[in-house]
Amino acid sequence: MSETQPVLILNGPNLNMLGVREPALYGRETLVDIEKRCEAHAKTHGLTVDFRQSNLEGELVTWIQQARGTASGIIINAGAYTHTSVAILDALKLIDAPIVEVHLSHIFRREAFRHHSYVSLVAHGMISGFGAHGYVLALDAVASLLQTPKTGS
Ligand code: DQA
Repeated sequence: MSETQPVLILNGPNLNMLGVREPALYGRETLVDIEKRCEAHAKTHGLTVDFRQSNLEGELVTWIQQARGTASGIIINAGAYTHTSVAILDALKLIDAPIVEVHLSHIFRREAFRHHSYVSLVAHGMISGFGAHGYVLALDAVASLLQTPKTGS
């Protein structure tokens, strides 16, 4: 994997509705706003992004499979699939590149069913509760992981 390959940023179900979806929880920024932010911030690290959203679990699984060897890292907000999808977990297990999990809301301050994440079992770390800024922090994390030698801590 190489830093010239894009960071795949995956967004799961209902995140296409950001801006109108429960703004008190998720903010007023749209997914397009977040994509623009990510593109601009990635540039500061010399990275590019491939930013996608799907409401379909299988489509997300296929995109993760295709990221093998073609993405320098994966940032994933799997939405509700975070808490339910063994299929997404299994796909992420195929990935050698850094994986960073993002949630706009602070999932541990919400309903108990949101406290478990399948994605966390394979992610290097999770950023939760910082709204859209979480994606920027996730890019910082990927950039830092890409600089860390694999044998290092
Ligand atoms: C979310 C949190 C999930 O529990 C929820 O189902 C979402 C969004 C977040 O970004 O805070 O769709 O992933």
